[in-house]
Amino acid sequence: MTEGSFSRVGVVGLGTMGAGIAEVLARGGLAVVGVEVNAEALERGRGHLENSTGRAVKRGRLTEDAQREILGRIAFTVDFADLGGCDLVIEAVPERLDLKRRVFAELDRVCRDDAVLATNTSSLSVTEIAAPTARPARVVGVHFFNPAPVMKLVEVIGTVLTEPGAVDRVASLVRGLGKTPVTVGDRSGFVANRLLFGYLNQAVGMLESGHATRDDIDTAMTAGAGLPMGPFTLMDLIGLDTCLEVLEALYAESRDRRHAPAPLLRELVTAGLLGRKSGRGFYDHG
Ligand code: CAA
Repeated sequence: MTEGSFSRVGVVGLGTMGAGIAEVLARGGLAVVGVEVNAEALERGRGHLENSTGRAVKRGRLTEDAQREILGRIAFTVDFADLGGCDLVIEAVPERLDLKRRVFAELDRVCRDDAVLATNTSSLSVTEIAAPTARPARVVGVHFFNPAPVMKLVEVIGTVLTEPGAVDRVASLVRGLGKTPVTVGDRSGFVANRLLFGYLNQAVGMLESGHATRDDIDTAMTAGAGLPMGPFTLMDLIGLDTCLEVLEALYAESRDRRHAPAPLLRELVTAGLLGRKSGRGFYDHG
C-alpha cells in the first residue's frame, strides 16, 4: 500500500519525534529510510521504534507478526545517499536553524529533483530552512505532535514559495495515515504551539512565584479543564529543552511577554533536567 503520491519516505533524525514519525509511516504501509548521524544514534532510534511497537504488542493492539512487518519496512542507515530513492524526506533533527539548514543543503544534493523536502520544525521558519535549497517550491513544514503515533494533528505548512500541489500532496498523505492535517502559514509556532506554549510558560511562572504547587496546577488543569495532562506532566513529556527552544523562537518573533521563557525553565534545562528523556524534569521519573 502507498499513501497518496508518495511511496518511499525518508526520515532524518530518529529521536523521539523522528522515530515516532517513522513508525506512523511504516504503520501506513510506506517504505521508510531512517537516517541518523552515527551508529550509536541509529541504534537508539531503532530502540525507540522497538519499544513503542513492543508496547502496542504487550497491550494486545498489535501482533508480533505485524510488529515485525512494520519494523521490516524501515531501512536504518547512517548514509544520506540512501535517501536518493525517496519521493519525500521528513527532517526531524534538533531544533537549531543552522543544523536544519545544513541538513536541507545536503538533502537538496542527494535527493531527486522532484522529491518534496519537509521539516518537522515546531517553531523555526520553514522559509529560512528552505533557503539553502534550489527547490523552495518543494519544501514544506510537516509538524507532528508528541507522541507522534498517538496524536492526531499534523500541521502542514506552506511558505510563500511553496507550490500548492506540494502542500496538497503532503496533506493527503497525512490523511491517508489516519491523521488530521490543518494547513497553516509560516509563522513561529504555527497554530497549536503559538497558543499552547504561552499557557505552559505561564504555568512555570505561577510555580516560580509560589502561586500554587506543581501538583495543584497539574490537578487544576486535568480535573478542572479536562486536559489529558497538566502543564508540568506535559512539559516533561515534550522535553524541557524543546519547550525552551520553542519559547525562545516564539519570543524572538512575537516579542509577546507571555513567550519570554520563565527563568525556572531555563534553570532546569541548564541543570540537565529535561523531563522524561533525562529521568527528571518537573517530576522525578525514576
Ligand atoms: N508512544 C507511542 N504510543 C504511546 C505513547 C508513546 N510515547 N504514549 C502513549 N501511547 C499510547 C498507548 O500505547 C495507548 O495506546 P492504546 O490505547 O492503543 O494501548 C494510548 O497512547 C493511550 O496511552 P495511555 O493509556 O498510556 O495513557 P493516556 O490515556 O494518559 O494517554 C497521552 C497518553 C496520549 C500522551 C495523553 O496523556 C495525551 O494526549 N497527552 C497530551 C499530549 C499532548 O498534548 N501532546 C502535544 C504536545 S505539544 C507538541 O508535541 C508540539 C511540539 O512541537 C513540542
